[in-house]
Amino acid sequence: MKIAIAAGTRPEFIQVEPIIRELTRKGVGTIFIHSGQHYDYEMDKIFFDEMHMPDPSHYLGIGSKLAGEQIGEMITKSERILRSEKPDMLLVTGDTNTALGVALAANKAKIKVGHFEAGMRSFDRTMPEEINRIIIDNISDALFSPTQRGVDNLHNTGICNNVFLVGDVMLDSIIHYRNLIKTPPRILPELSLGNSPYILLTLHREANTDDPIRLKNILDAVSALPLPVIFTVHPRTKQRIQDFFLTLPENVHPIPPQGYFEFLRLLSHAQKLLTDSGGAQKQAFFLSKPCITLRPNTEWVETIEDGWNILVDDNSEMIIEAATTFDPKNLPNLALFGDGGSSERIIDTALSLL
Ligand code: UD1
Repeated sequence: MKIAIAAGTRPEFIQVEPIIRELTRKGVGTIFIHSGQHYDYEMDKIFFDEMHMPDPSHYLGIGSKLAGEQIGEMITKSERILRSEKPDMLLVTGDTNTALGVALAANKAKIKVGHFEAGMRSFDRTMPEEINRIIIDNISDALFSPTQRGVDNLHNTGICNNVFLVGDVMLDSIIHYRNLIKTPPRILPELSLGNSPYILLTLHREANTDDPIRLKNILDAVSALPLPVIFTVHPRTKQRIQDFFLTLPENVHPIPPQGYFEFLRLLSHAQKLLTDSGGAQKQAFFLSKPCITLRPNTEWVETIEDGWNILVDDNSEMIIEAATTFDPKNLPNLALFGDGGSSERIIDTALSLL
């Protein structure tokens, strides 16, 4: 029995790690395809080093390109690998160009595709990720959904076979590494904030970074926040801030992209999170941190319904109001995302289908 797994971006490395750990624990042959979609040390290798992940079996070296070119190369290069390795199933996660390209290649090579984080929808077709998710779900042979809403979304679009509610592998990961993220963030002394509370900011969705008006609106609102803001700057955002001749407000402390553990330490010690990231919204929920989401919609509706996440889009008044007053009182209902055993459930189910 051989299972292939593909990843190429920061959020995918975080999500495939518990799956690879589980495959290793069960002694299942694993072929790990790294697309090279992310390649900077801070966006790629650091996660392998920190979590002691095995080296990829195949590295496609795709890099930054126009989306179509990127997906085209993914298909061409990974189809050859999949045809020669002949795995029994390919696993992909989420909604990246890597997941889409390699899943399409597997489909053409007549290899079963298992999609975890299946069924998630923002219902916003202007998001490239939404289109990727829809296509991947539609060509998958096994659909592992983290939440009941994901299952419902799939059923509502007529995808009913081999849909499994498994919980979220990102919760597995946080539980597994909980001891490593308890300590204070190592970067704090460098930022000279003393013991001041702070807001953590991440910002990288194309809709926010590639539109100078939205990007400026968000930075202007951040400048009016009552607390220092620690900003882990994604490479694309850094580039766009330069391209649009924008300057960061004085209360913003920019830092390079952080490793997984340091990011979670920063989040654990923050007063609130301001973000447009998918994964970080969930991690804030898992760590009981109020999340203010810089988007008009989200796939993680449960975090909103449970009172721990609020959508503010790029609206300055809403951003400032939420940063000042948003203060959930109940404990987050983590069971909405499973119990920390999702990776095991995914692998057990995948093996039972083969
Ligand atoms: C991704 C995926 C998507 C999935 C989502 C949630 C894309 C386009 N989408 O988006 O498959 O729906 O995850 O599961 O990639 N982090 C660091 N250091 C930092 C900042 C963040 O380690 O400085 C980590 C955090 O743990 C965070 C993770 O990176 O959760 C997410 O990466 P991010 O680049 O924000 O991608 P997502 O928007 O989460």
